[in-house]
Amino acid sequence: MTFLRNAWYAACWATDLLPGETLAKTILCDPVVLWRDSAGDPVALEDRCCHRHLPLSLGRVTEDTIQCGYHGLEFGADGDCVKVPGQGKVPPGAQVRSYPVIEKYSMVWIWPGEASRADEGAIPELPWLDSPGWVSTGGHIHMKADYRLLIDNLLDLTHVTYIHKNTIAGDPQEALVPVSTARDGDAIRVERWMLGFTAPPMYDLARKFDGKVDRWQLIKWQAPSTVTLDIGCADADTGAPSGDRSQGISMWSNHIITPETETTTHYHWAFARNYKLDDVEVSEVLAKGGLQTFMEDVVVLERQQEALGTVGDRPVVDINIDNAPMQFRRILGDRIAAENNSVAAG
Ligand code: FES
Ligand SMILES: [Fe+2]
Repeated sequence: MTFLRNAWYAACWATDLLPGETLAKTILCDPVVLWRDSAGDPVALEDRCCHRHLPLSLGRVTEDTIQCGYHGLEFGADGDCVKVPGQGKVPPGAQVRSYPVIEKYSMVWIWPGEASRADEGAIPELPWLDSPGWVSTGGHIHMKADYRLLIDNLLDLTHVTYIHKNTIAGDPQEALVPVSTARDGDAIRVERWMLGFTAPPMYDLARKFDGKVDRWQLIKWQAPSTVTLDIGCADADTGAPSGDRSQGISMWSNHIITPETETTTHYHWAFARNYKLDDVEVSEVLAKGGLQTFMEDVVVLERQQEALGTVGDRPVVDINIDNAPMQFRRILGDRIAAENNSVAAG
């Protein structure tokens, strides 16, 4: 298996889980139904009725239960069947799996592993998605490729020059600026400072930069599958590299990735910005530009996935830019192996 199960994954954006409605999602190959209880709290259950296997997502949400659409069995948030129409007693064992679920950072998070190990503190840190002073625009892309291909892509800055030549690629000289890669606990950081360049057009939305700027792209992968990019620029020589960003603008480019199956992925993305918070036009331009840019990656990754399905075990060569992707795969692979060993031992 290529999944770490004892971890939090984004099931959906919180705004996509509507009161009174069911939402069916496959997460790490598990069919799941999500809904909200009468307090508005999210619930995640196995999407299968224990009576005759109809997906519960085809049923309906009552006050605090989900009712199967076939014979009306009702299940509570803990997965226990609480009502069987036409009979007084619920048969023993009438229950479905319930998953730990938490709403945080404008997302609904699910824990597909052992419920007793679910720890809210292990949710990846994304405070700018719901903090005052920040506003986000984003969406969800369904991608027909292994989630790890997308993480490879996000940890590699050189692809911008080639895949994104029609959107975000800037001065070709940027591709020559050295990138630093470092391990930080179980995270990987890939960082590039570009000093004395021209601001890319996207930053003109924030304000006009007339002179040269210092730009930063500070990437962090957090296990298992969240990649954030702290990006922005400031007037050149005003101290941004040493921490003074007062003469510039900042954005967080968030990539919150959930494996659907071994070869398909839920790709949640969002830009969070700390400028022009109420400007609808800026939000619209970023939403459109983000989707266009990230679809350029998805088209390539889906073709790469198709190729992987046909090449068998033909060898590949590695180059310098593969450093960060190889490190993340090693860390994740070790954690998955440790988890599988503990399951086998237990
Ligand atoms: S299949 Fe769900 S109640 Fe019969
Ligand atoms: Fe990209």
